[in-house]
Amino acid sequence: MKIAILGGTGDEGLGLAIRFALAGNEVIIGSRAADRAETAAQAVRDKVASARVSGTTNDVAVEQAELVMLSVPFAGLRATVSALAPKLAGKIVVSLVVPLQFGKGGPHAELVPEGSAAELTQQLAPEARVVGAFQNLSAHELLEPDHDLGCDVLVCADDRDARRSVMTLAETIKGVRAIDAGPLAYSRYVEDMTALLISLNRRYKTQTGIRISGIG
Ligand SMILES: NC(=O)c1ccc[n+]([C@@H]2O[C@H](COP(=O)([O-])OP(=O)(O)OC[C@H]3O[C@@H](n4cnc5c(N)ncnc54)[C@H](OP(=O)(O)O)[C@@H]3O)[C@@H](O)[C@H]2O)c1
Repeated sequence: MKIAILGGTGDEGLGLAIRFALAGNEVIIGSRAADRAETAAQAVRDKVASARVSGTTNDVAVEQAELVMLSVPFAGLRATVSALAPKLAGKIVVSLVVPLQFGKGGPHAELVPEGSAAELTQQLAPEARVVGAFQNLSAHELLEPDHDLGCDVLVCADDRDARRSVMTLAETIKGVRAIDAGPLAYSRYVEDMTALLISLNRRYKTQTGIRISGIG
């Protein structure tokens, strides 16, 4: 699978790039600046000697990929997706974006009129096969290829085949179990949960994740 990670120069995208490269996927790191993407691609090679990884601008990365991951801050999501919408048509587009605000009382979820970052993405790119996933995975854990994450990834999408494909991809990450979390509208709950996880990380000085009980 050829996977583009837009904003893959940040810790979350870089961590996922390392994990997907480890699983044998071809990874294209996207950035607003090609040189930053090249530097990030080299950082992946430094961790995974066998990595098939390159770095380029976001728009070229989308053109080259079969599956596109959005790993930009929520503040940059609208502009990023709007500019690329025609090129995203027909592709699986995974939003791991969490609309967060950091205030005095700790992190809290930002209200999104469209419901969630994933649903906003679908509105901006109506012909894309949008999936919400990976919003609860800590970059800190992803960046260490040997770390067993021991957690679930909740996958939401209206396109069932796209949901299945992303579940299969998620389970290539060491210690991850993918959960079919239903339609895209449920992404809002998954995104919001990240504010709680970050707060727990601070309180317990650890890296937390989600584990759903009762599913065999
Ligand atoms: N960090 C975590 O542990 C974590 C966990 C779960 C989910 N997430 C979500 O994953 C996404 C990425 O997280 P991150 O920590 O890697 O974020 P980040 O470092 O703040 O940003 C990632 C990349 O996005 C690009 N970017 C920054 N501002 C932008 C803008 N206004 N418009 C377009 N692109 C912009 C930058 O790349 P270039 O300058 O190279 O273009 C940056 O390196 C976020 O939506 C976050 O909510 C993060």
